[in-house]
Amino acid sequence: MGVILRGGIIVTAVDYYKADIRMEGEKVIAIGEGIALPEDHILDVEGCFLLPGGVDVHTHFDLPVGNTVTADDFSSGTQGAIIGGTTTVVDYATQFKGQTLKEALMAWHAKARGKNYTDYGFHMAISDWNDDIAEEICWLSKSAGVTSIKLYMAYKNVLQVNDDILFKAFTKGKQHGVLVCVHCENGDMIYNLVNQYRSQGNVTPYYHSLSRPIIAEEEAVTRVIAIAQAAQSQVYIVHLSSNLALQVVMKAKAKGNKVYAETCPQYLLLDESYYNHSFESTKYVISPPLRQKENQDFLWRGLSNRILDVVATDHCSFNFNGQKDAGLQDFSMIPNGIPGVENRLSLLYTYGVVPGKISMNTFVNVTATQPAKIFGLFPRKGTIAPGSDADIVVWDTNHTFVIRAETQYQRVDYTPYEGLQQKGKARHVFLRGRQVVHHGKLCDVNPHGIYLPRQGIR
Ligand code: URP
Ligand code: ZN
Ligand code: ZN
Repeated sequence: MGVILRGGIIVTAVDYYKADIRMEGEKVIAIGEGIALPEDHILDVEGCFLLPGGVDVHTHFDLPVGNTVTADDFSSGTQGAIIGGTTTVVDYATQFKGQTLKEALMAWHAKARGKNYTDYGFHMAISDWNDDIAEEICWLSKSAGVTSIKLYMAYKNVLQVNDDILFKAFTKGKQHGVLVCVHCENGDMIYNLVNQYRSQGNVTPYYHSLSRPIIAEEEAVTRVIAIAQAAQSQVYIVHLSSNLALQVVMKAKAKGNKVYAETCPQYLLLDESYYNHSFESTKYVISPPLRQKENQDFLWRGLSNRILDVVATDHCSFNFNGQKDAGLQDFSMIPNGIPGVENRLSLLYTYGVVPGKISMNTFVNVTATQPAKIFGLFPRKGTIAPGSDADIVVWDTNHTFVIRAETQYQRVDYTPYEGLQQKGKARHVFLRGRQVVHHGKLCDVNPHGIYLPRQGIR
């Protein structure tokens, strides 16, 4: 028996058309008219959009940071994801000092196994590069299905790597079909600014953003693109936050450099006015920090003209009470990160598609198709086509709701989007043909997500 979604409008990165979808087992089998078999179950989705399940390629679930661990683990994080219409996440498995990549990856598999409500893959964030680690890149790609790594140009003395390591990583990545993702902020500039503010007694969250100026991002983006070019490699820039950094990417793309760039809902919608001297503003402490509002129009245009390739969330949640308060006396002790994996599609639809800043095709492209393509999951994920996984979101454009921490599935005691009115919501969600969300509620209490080994990047 198959399932027919009848009467919806199918939207992909390139198409927009009315047709029925027939799913059987885990796959999309047919698209068109008159495709139902007598025994099929018919679901009326008249008036809704049918979208490929969202692909969020930047999450941090169950991540130890300092003396604490992110509020969301794989269970609560992926419940939030699937309610919001995201059916695949690619999480940053993280290698800590002294660990091999294999040890780090096995630790992440242990955290995730049996808990996922979405399908999932891993990148590998590397904090301790050396010759032995470099040799493991081949294993990571060929045997473990992890075809992207991440390096940090910031977080001095913890995660930050130097240019020598960046060059070596790009070279190895190219050799083994592994894409290098980079957190672009100049960590040395930031280290000095943080120390200056602290020594002056300027310790409130307000100084978090002052200690991480846009120039630190612009410089790092410029430098990393140059290093990637010298190594004849591609580069993926995570969480780009400012117009100046966007201009650097735009120029590099115009020159033919193979650069991918991601931004996040927080940089499109929130701004630096959230930082003040109150404890409340620890809720917004992220890196890079929120920027002046005028950057947002440039970022929206960057999505629309496809300079920006991906919108991911960088979901990295810490409770306001009991975790963010570690920085009450010193902004540099506030764990960095915010939640958002549940809200990505409705935020982008409400503030991007509805006012006409991005088209429906761009909406699908940046939330599903491009992330799947860039990270080796396409065409299994990221589109609606015969043979693709039946990860389908039935998107109800008329459903309005207000984002509230008390009703969210993410397991964190606040949301940076509290009170925002949303237009558009995932009414039903199918994960490989199985209905997991029904009328906006999780309808299957069991996690059915599977690990997705990914293909190498060319
Ligand atoms: O503040 C952030 N973005 N925290 C998560 C870790 C990272 O830098 O991506
Ligand atoms: Zn980062
Ligand atoms: Zn991140």
